[in-house]
Order: sequence, then C-alpha cells, then structure tokens
Amino acid sequence: MLSIKNIKKLRDQFISPSLSISYKDPLHIVRGKGQYLYDRNGTKYLDAINNISHVGHCHPKVIETLYEQSKTLNTNTRYLHENIVLYAQELINRLPAHLQVCYFTNSGSESNDLALRIARDYTNSNHTIVIEGAYHGHTSATIEVSPYKYDGPGGKGKATYIHPVPMPDAYRGSWRGSNADILEYYVGHVDSILDSLNRGGEQVSAFISESILGCGGQILFPEGFLSLANDKVRDVGGLCIADEVQIGFGRVGSHFWGFESENTVPDIITMGKSMGNGHPLSAVVTTQEIAQKFNNGMEYFNSFGGNPVSCAVGRTVLEIIEKEKLQENAYLIGKYLIKELNDLKIRHNLIGDIRGRGLFLGIELIRDHENMVPAASEAEEIVNHMKDRGILVSTDGPNHNVIKIKPPMIFTKKNADQLLDTLDQLLIKKKYNSLT
Ligand SMILES: Cc1ncc(COP(=O)(O)O)c(C=O)c1O
Repeated sequence: MLSIKNIKKLRDQFISPSLSISYKDPLHIVRGKGQYLYDRNGTKYLDAINNISHVGHCHPKVIETLYEQSKTLNTNTRYLHENIVLYAQELINRLPAHLQVCYFTNSGSESNDLALRIARDYTNSNHTIVIEGAYHGHTSATIEVSPYKYDGPGGKGKATYIHPVPMPDAYRGSWRGSNADILEYYVGHVDSILDSLNRGGEQVSAFISESILGCGGQILFPEGFLSLANDKVRDVGGLCIADEVQIGFGRVGSHFWGFESENTVPDIITMGKSMGNGHPLSAVVTTQEIAQKFNNGMEYFNSFGGNPVSCAVGRTVLEIIEKEKLQENAYLIGKYLIKELNDLKIRHNLIGDIRGRGLFLGIELIRDHENMVPAASEAEEIVNHMKDRGILVSTDGPNHNVIKIKPPMIFTKKNADQLLDTLDQLLIKKKYNSLT
C-alpha cells in the first residue's frame, strides 16, 4: 500500500488543485461497511456525513446487483431493456401523478443542468430565480444558479438573468419575525422579481430550489414559503424545479421527497447522490406536457445515463429503502437527534440553533447569543476533534459555522448516542462556553 505521504504527493502532482480534502490530518479510508468507514490501520469511523451511501457503504445487495448485471450486460439505452423502463416506472410510482417522464443522467449537476435546459426551452426564457447560498452543481449552467459558488471564492458574480432571493432563514436571515411576517418578507422578494420582469416585458423561466437548503446551512424554510413562492412563479407561466439531490429518497423521514414536507409540487424534480448508493446515477422527472415540448427534434442521448447496470442498482436501492424501512428510521432517529441536540443546546452556549428534518440536520454554532457571531473556527476545530474521536461530520453554511449531520439512513439510536456523547464531552472538555 502506498504511504500517506506518497498518496498526498501524487495527489498534489496529478489531481486538480481545485479539489480540497477533508480534515486537518486527512484520512486514508480503505474500506466501508454499513455506517462505518475504516482507515489503513483498521481504525473505525462512524460516518455521520455521507448521504450518498444512503443504504449503507457497500450494501451486499447493491454489490450483488452491480456484479450480476455487470457480468451480463452494460450498454447504452438505444436497445430495448427492461431495467430502464421498470426503474422509471418504480420512480414515477413514488412521485405525484403529474410527474410522468424520466430522463436518466449521471450526477446531480447534470440533472440540474438538464432541468434548466428543459425549463428554458419550455418558457423560451432564461430568467431564473434562485435562493442565496444555494448550490445546484458544478457545470457552467448550474454554477450560474448557485450563489454559493458565483458569490464565493473565485466566483464571477451573477449573470443578468439570474435573480437571487434572500435565504428564508428564520434564525439568522434578514427578517426573523413571526411566521406570517417572515412569509410576507421572503415571498415579497419573489413578487418583486416577478413584477420587475413583467414590467420589462420579460418571462420568468424557473424557480429552482431545494426543500431544505444544504450548502446554505441546513436551512428549513418558514412554513408555507416554498409552496407560496412556487405558486407565484407558476401563476405567471414559470416552472418550479425541486432539487432533491441531497434530501430525496426518504431522508427527511416524514416524506419520501423533501417538497412533500413543504406541501408543494414541482414541475420538474431532479435527483442524484443517494439514488445509486455511490454508483453514479441521477435523473430528471417532469410532466408529459413539458417533455413533449422539449421533444423539439434535438435528441436527448446520454452515453451512460439509464444503462442496465445503473438502473439495476437504482431498483435495488429503492427495494432496500422499502424493505429495511429506512424512511421510518430516518424519521425516528432524526426526531431523537433533534430532541437530544436541543438538550445539548441548553447546556452549551456555543450552540445557537438546531434544525433540519429526519437525517438531514444542522447545528449552528455562535460565540455570542446577542450578536450571533458565527463560531466558524470552533466549528472546524470540533469537526476535526470529532474525527479524532471516530466520528465524521462536516461544516457548511455561508459562515462555515454549521455542523452538518446527514449519515447513511441505517444510522441507529446507538450511533446517535455515540455522536451526542462525543459532542457533549468535547464541548465540556474544550470549554467552548468560555468563548461566549
Ligand atoms: C443540492 C445539490 N444539487 C446538486 C448537486 C450536484 O450534484 P453532483 O455533485 O452529483 O454533481 C449537489 C452536490 O452537492 C447538491 O448538494
């Protein structure tokens, strides 16, 4: 096995310098099983951050499916094959009735890129409403709708046809009043954009949003925001794109899709990450009407998307979610974690807010409850100390002060207790409270 030093050296030499690495002392992970990862020395880590390994690392049924289909056939989608049609049917059976047509892709970015292209074609416009802090992918078109990137380091700012609205963040946002006021304020920003486009004789194309903002810092919307905003956009002929790349497939616990917990329905849904449990598989699903309009003569062909191996894997992942009752598990463990984390919040001043749904949670750290100074360096330090104690989490949010928890969906109560105890002990030992 190559030494850590040599891997680092080769990485520095041959891998894009734009790719960062987790943790101050990087991990050399060589094996995964269930909710655990193992490094080169056999040290075991509880993975509380990888929402891609949805049903657990190296799930034997996923591996078996992958192997069996790979040794039988893998080719593109220009031949008839039952895997693609059965998988599409199974996905569609889990969606609202109007979402009926699938396009298979290979990453979340590709799905969002295609969704934007479909919306732009349908509306003959590229005016897109986005939420500040959002991330929707790394392609040119998705960077354009990702304020997290275009406003971040190296970003070139927004294009003229991109219209950001403030993050509807009830905790730290620019408006924090009662729910009714919050709604009026944040939906008001959508109204102003639509009014201004209307005055200029311009058509809105789409509003793209997650149902819980991931890179935004695990932000839950004020109740009613997403459905109201979606309705306003649709009323003037725009399309609503639900980016379910992070939270789809039961992660929010209460529902299979995030948008369902927001009481709204999209015109286009994009999915990825967890869909293939690590195998590169993603999709866009939309209505018959929108798909017919997009069928304008330009073919949609994708070398890998929808291939028999990927679709077999996707079907198995769906089957495991169902059989192992993983959505129910996300609901129960998520509820338990939220309750216990709120208990930690009472005892540790560094914790400002606990939020999220199911197994998609955030812990916002602050130095000062009055001024809410973001505790970014403390968050980074805690994440590194948690790693040294065998638990993997990460930080995010515009101020880098939100610890994210989004583990494989098989995360148990015992795993939750280990995470809670470790965090508690760390906060006591490091006396972060003295910073307040
Ligand atoms: C909400 C959201 N959409 C899209 C993407 C892009 O997905 P991918 O990395 O598979 O291209 C991400 C990736 O983190 C994401 O968080």
